[in-house]
Amino acid sequence: MEWVHLSVCMSLDGHIDAANGDRLVLSSEEDCHDMHRLRAECDAILVGAGTVRRDEPRLTVRYPELVAARRARGQPDQPTKVTLTRSGLLDPTSGFFAQGGDRIVLCEEALLPELRQQLGGVAHLAALSSPGPTGILEALSRLGVRRLMVEGGCQILTQFLAAGAFHRLRLAVAPFLLGQPQAPRITGPADFLHGPDRRLRILGTRTLGNVAVIDMENETPRFAPD
Ligand SMILES: NC(=O)c1ccc[n+]([C@@H]2O[C@H](COP(=O)([O-])OP(=O)(O)OC[C@H]3O[C@@H](n4cnc5c(N)ncnc54)[C@H](OP(=O)(O)O)[C@@H]3O)[C@@H](O)[C@H]2O)c1
Repeated sequence: MEWVHLSVCMSLDGHIDAANGDRLVLSSEEDCHDMHRLRAECDAILVGAGTVRRDEPRLTVRYPELVAARRARGQPDQPTKVTLTRSGLLDPTSGFFAQGGDRIVLCEEALLPELRQQLGGVAHLAALSSPGPTGILEALSRLGVRRLMVEGGCQILTQFLAAGAFHRLRLAVAPFLLGQPQAPRITGPADFLHGPDRRLRILGTRTLGNVAVIDMENETPRFAPD
């Protein structure tokens, strides 16, 4: 994998969504455009099945000039969308499967027959050789993905951050506090590669509308066996 870029937007108190089922707007228009610019550079975008069920994200590049730039580079108009599941609880009528680029669903080998029946022709199904980030990246490499953007949610970010299996992290911070203890946070508990004695390198900070973006580099990316 040439690069793995994690991207997430959170509130000042670290929440990435609301607890009550309402849609939480964290990003600004300027931040959104910049995110789409990053999406436009990648081959595929990964989100967990939790995000697919909750948000039905389209994961498209929405701005025509960015789509035109992809076309000029010989890339498909839209990046491939990827999700992964252990339970197989994915609805083939979800917006995730309806629009945008090609779809890939990753799962354990044993789940493939059931998912094949369930998802029919809406996605390409592929088996994970191992359950963690390395297995995920290996499966995607075999399918030709060289540049991957990982957009969440909490479980997926926790696994990639804990393993150190990424090159860059784009963190957008919305300047408000949500104050809902039950709301999803950016990460769950884990043994993270980056602690007080091993920091990410800050490449720069930017103000995009009413959102602050911190671009960070992982100087010690690790793609160790899961
Ligand atoms: N603010 C942001 O930037 C942002 C971005 C994206 C998402 N979000 C938010 O994040 C929340 C969802 O986070 P989440 O932690 O609940 O869900 P998630 O991380 O999106 O997905 C977790 C699910 O992915 C599957 N999974 C995870 N690791 C796996 C592995 N190694 N192998 C196979 N399957 C695996 C499992 O699916 P099964 O349960 O099907 O087994 C698991 O329940 C939503 O509220 C969403 O709005 C926020």
